[in-house]
Amino acid sequence: MKHLSNQKINLLRQNARSVVRELGLLNDAYFEVGVTLAERHLLIELSSCQEPLTAGDIAERLLLDKSTVSRLVAKAVKKGFITCSTDQKDKRKRFLQFTELGKNTLFSFEPIAFNQTKNALQTLNLEEINLVYQGMALYAQGLRNSRLQNAAPTSLNTGVNKVESLKEVHNLLHQFGCKLKAYKLKDDEELFAIFQEVVDTGCQFPYESSSREEFQTQFFGSTSQVYVCRSPQGHVIGGFYLKPNYSGRSGHIANAAYMIKSTHRRLGIGTLLINASLHIARSLGFVAMQFNRVLSENAGAIKLYEKLGFEIVGTIPNAIRNADGSFQDAYTMYRRIDNL
Ligand SMILES: CC(C)(COP(=O)(O)OP(=O)(O)OC[C@H]1O[C@@H](n2cnc3c(N)ncnc32)[C@H](O)[C@@H]1OP(=O)(O)O)[C@@H](O)C(=O)NCCC(=O)NCCS
Repeated sequence: MKHLSNQKINLLRQNARSVVRELGLLNDAYFEVGVTLAERHLLIELSSCQEPLTAGDIAERLLLDKSTVSRLVAKAVKKGFITCSTDQKDKRKRFLQFTELGKNTLFSFEPIAFNQTKNALQTLNLEEINLVYQGMALYAQGLRNSRLQNAAPTSLNTGVNKVESLKEVHNLLHQFGCKLKAYKLKDDEELFAIFQEVVDTGCQFPYESSSREEFQTQFFGSTSQVYVCRSPQGHVIGGFYLKPNYSGRSGHIANAAYMIKSTHRRLGIGTLLINASLHIARSLGFVAMQFNRVLSENAGAIKLYEKLGFEIVGTIPNAIRNADGSFQDAYTMYRRIDNL
């Protein structure tokens, strides 16, 4: 970009350093309260969320890897700021909670930080204050955009929809450092986060809630197989379940559902996961694949399914209740897989 000189970039960096120094953020023992910067962020996140948070939630919010957060949590527990408790319903989940000391510590540094910002803004006029808001928001947005772009792997979009074998799917994913693996317990948090992200849009699946119970019901039935796709960095970026669509004498038709993390869509991963599911289904003896309720407004998914040989074989009028109380149709989509 023409107007983006090195000098301007360095000036912005210099000002950002100056903000960090003025706020005293390099001072590990923040204002003699005895709390590190990372611990402050941890306590602020815990205080700002109504729902109980796990270490995985904290990792996502603070943009830190899980091992760094484990160390941070262990230290905060040792200092007496928080405790960890196991979820009664799901023993794999450990929630973080404030202790009295943690709350008092938060209340001892929050007013300092608040007043620091308030006093700084009071030295500026209204126009300047608005510029600060806009500039900070834009810079944060730019940093976020660039992180998300860098996190996404190079496109796997080969332009080829039909993939001849499961091995070919693995090879194509492998070329870009991605891996398709059978689900393991360690994938749980990341896959659940994708489930929540997808279901909470209300536009792609008709589930009433994105609760853990719903996730468990939809993905982990007794006849389901679950697969995840991992990024070159080892993060789960998508997944699917595969199961018989119906029991008994209709058990030869498979059913599946796919979810790709929003930051990794339109890169060809969905195409590869669907192809993988078709080949796995065929190897399990299924002769067809059927989706029962594809939301008629989920145009992207419908387009992709049609590209991959699925046809709309039925329309269920007003099958889905939308968030605003209106209704939309759902399609039943089907393709044979004995001819893959
Ligand atoms: C549907 C979904 C699985 C597709 O995964 P994906 O990795 O984005 O798909 P791909 O990159 O392989 O897309 C391949 C093609 O499908 C079509 N497509 C996919 N998403 C689309 C969208 N949002 N709008 C228009 N076309 C779309 C395009 O033709 C695309 O090719 P192009 O990028 O070259 O134009 C993904 O968007 C997703 O997880 N959505 C939320 C959950 C969901 O809707 N699941 C299906 C429920 S029935």
